Amino acid sequence: EKGGYPHFMIKEISEQPEAIRTTIMPRIKEGLPFLEECGITTETIKNFKNITIVACGTAMHAGMVGKYVIEDIARVPVNVDIASEFRYRNPIVGEGDLVIIISQSGETADSLAAMRLAKQKGAKTLAIVNAKGSSIAREADMLIYTLAGPEISVPSTKAYITQLSVMYLFAFELALAKETISTAECKRLVSALTKMPEAVQYVIDNCEDTCKFVATKLVATDSLLYIGRGLDYALSMEGSLKLKEVSYIHSESYAAGELKHGTISLIDEDVPVIAVATQTGIIPKTISNVVEVKSRGAKVILVCTDACARELKDGVADYVIEIPHTDELLMPITAVVPLQILAYYTSINRGIDPDKPKNLAKSVTVE
Ligand code: M6R
Repeated sequence: EKGGYPHFMIKEISEQPEAIRTTIMPRIKEGLPFLEECGITTETIKNFKNITIVACGTAMHAGMVGKYVIEDIARVPVNVDIASEFRYRNPIVGEGDLVIIISQSGETADSLAAMRLAKQKGAKTLAIVNAKGSSIAREADMLIYTLAGPEISVPSTKAYITQLSVMYLFAFELALAKETISTAECKRLVSALTKMPEAVQYVIDNCEDTCKFVATKLVATDSLLYIGRGLDYALSMEGSLKLKEVSYIHSESYAAGELKHGTISLIDEDVPVIAVATQTGIIPKTISNVVEVKSRGAKVILVCTDACARELKDGVADYVIEIPHTDELLMPITAVVPLQILAYYTSINRGIDPDKPKNLAKSVTVE
């Protein structure tokens, strides 16, 4: 049932190009997002003034990417909340607001309770769910299924990438509804999104060996940091969770510019830093943070675009994992792949079964 792969995790990583394709293609018509069958049209969403995204773990990290993308192109404020916090916080949501719940299983207790609370307060709910017919899917006002297929491995990989894909389609539709982008620009973005399955396949085919090699350098690590800015920061959160979940190495993700406000004191030669730099405008800023941690002894693994790698001065990073430059906004879809593969091989090198990390369950149905 693992189709020749040693673990579900790596099988599911390799299924990502197909999972994205299956998820987005039926939701595109004449080059534009087509979400009518999910209850979403420019008419039904144009009046939302505030959006809250509620989820747990990896699904919440997909929400973080969603926030950056929606705010950037649709200019609607988005608040991302952890479901277990939202539900006990008397959150400010009500009529006229949209609450998006993201969940692979559709059964996560806190996410389900958060959705019920949002409905009770009069907000409209949109669920982005992978498991057909699950509780969250049944109770939401609007529903977009991620069509990743069953995800068996505890660490979420293909569900995350399809959650991102759906967030993009939704953001494009919302931007059209808000008239913050033109139809032509929307078509350009949709077309760029349709090229992502190929781009992800390219990254899988070309990064695996480097990630495998870099993973050998992390076996004996006790603690490390992920850094990035903007979308790269949102993605760092996911990279960090993936690694700690399957390798039992302590890791944290930090907004690169925030390091010098405390966390940089942790840096020495025993604390490697994984930096993500894919957003052209802020790459020089992230690189300057890389230089800072390097000068304090950290080994640096840099995940960056090919363009960034070409301009890198010698010795800035110890290891560089290059990914092709695609549309800037869509970079998290490809950039997550090396982070997943790195986590996978680090887990293997430490003799752990990545499919079933200790203390974790695939679906968290108790709070
Ligand atoms: O089924 P859900 O998407 O609601 O699950 C949420 C989290 O429990 C889940 O994403 C968890 O963080 C993953 N194991 C991370 O890989």
